[in-house]
Amino acid sequence: MICIPNANLPVVLGLTMVKAFAPGKCILFGEHAVVYGHPAVAVAIDSGVEVELIESDAWTIEGMPFQSEKHPHLSHILEDVFNYDGKPLEISINSDLFSAAGLGSSAALSNAMGAAVQKLLDSDCELDVIELAKIGHAAEAKAQLGRASPTDTATSAMGGCIVVSGQKVSGTRHVFDSSLVTPEGMRKWSICEVELPDNLDAWLVLGFTGIGSPTGDMVAGVAKLLNDDPSKHKEMDAISKITYAGLAALGAGNLEAVGMAMNTCHEKLQLLEVSSRELDALVEAVLPHSLGAKLTGAGGGGCMVALTEQPQRVAEAIEVAGGTPLISRLGAKGVRIV
Ligand code: PMV
Repeated sequence: MICIPNANLPVVLGLTMVKAFAPGKCILFGEHAVVYGHPAVAVAIDSGVEVELIESDAWTIEGMPFQSEKHPHLSHILEDVFNYDGKPLEISINSDLFSAAGLGSSAALSNAMGAAVQKLLDSDCELDVIELAKIGHAAEAKAQLGRASPTDTATSAMGGCIVVSGQKVSGTRHVFDSSLVTPEGMRKWSICEVELPDNLDAWLVLGFTGIGSPTGDMVAGVAKLLNDDPSKHKEMDAISKITYAGLAALGAGNLEAVGMAMNTCHEKLQLLEVSSRELDALVEAVLPHSLGAKLTGAGGGGCMVALTEQPQRVAEAIEVAGGTPLISRLGAKGVRIV
C-alpha cells in the first residue's frame, strides 16, 4: 500500500495535527498468578490517555521543552521504533486515569503515542493495533528495565476482554504471541481475546485508595512469600481455577457467577498478602450493592474493582469509605485516532 504522509490529517493554522486515545485496563482475574504462567483476564475501561501531536518549530511537551531522557516511553517510540526525523512536535497529554494505580496508564500513553506517530507518518494507513500492542510492550519494557508483562499494552491496544497466559486458553481466540528477554531470562505469553455478550447489564466501578501501587515490590514480595512458605503455591493454583471459572461465567454472561469468582479471588489475594487495610475497607463498603469486588492489579495500594448493576450507589459507597471512584463499562474499544 502507498501511504501519503499527512494527506488526511487536520491542519490548524498551517500546522498538521493528530490526536489518538488509548484506554486503561482493569484486571478482573489472575493478577500475580500470571507471573507464574497462569492466565489473567483484563478488560479495557472507558477512561484512558489522549496524546495530541502538532508539527511545530520546537520540541515541547505540555508547553515545556521536551527532554527525551525524562520520557522513556515517548522517546523509545519516536526514536527507536519510528526513527522519527520529521518536524519538531508539540506534544500534549490528557489522562483521566489515576496514575501508578494499576490501571495501565503508562501502557495507554505508549499506545496513544504509537498510534499518533503511526498516523502522522502514514495518514492513509489503518492503525495496526497488534503492532501497536507490541510497540507499547517494548516501550514499557525499556522504561521498566526489562520487566513488563504484555497485559496492559495488549488490552489497551485491542480493547474488549483479553486473556494473557503462558499457554493458549481454550474458549478464547488466539491473537498473537509475545516474548521478552527479562533480567530473569526469556518469558513468553499467548495473547487471546474473548467475545463478551452484548447485553451485559453491569458496570465496573474502580475505587482508588489514593496510595501508589509499586508493582515490582509487590511481585517481589509474593516471590519471597512463596519461597519462605511453599504451601502458599496452593493459593496460586486456586487463583488459576477461579480465573478459568470467572472467564467461563463472563463468556456466558452469568454476572452473579462472575461476581462470586471476584469475591473468592480477593480472599486468595489476601492470603498472598497483597491486599491492604484500605483495599479491604473499599471492598467491604461496596459489597452490599455489588455482584462482587476485589483488588485489581498488583495490590498494596492502587485500586479495587466492583462489578455492579448500581454504579452510582457503589461510587457513593467508595467515596464515603475514603476512596475515589471511576465508573466504566466492561470492555471498552481499544486504541484509536480521535
Ligand atoms: O501493574 P498492575 O498493577 O496492573 O499489576 C500487574 C499485575 C501483576 O500480575 C501483579 C504483575 C504482572 O506483571 O502481571
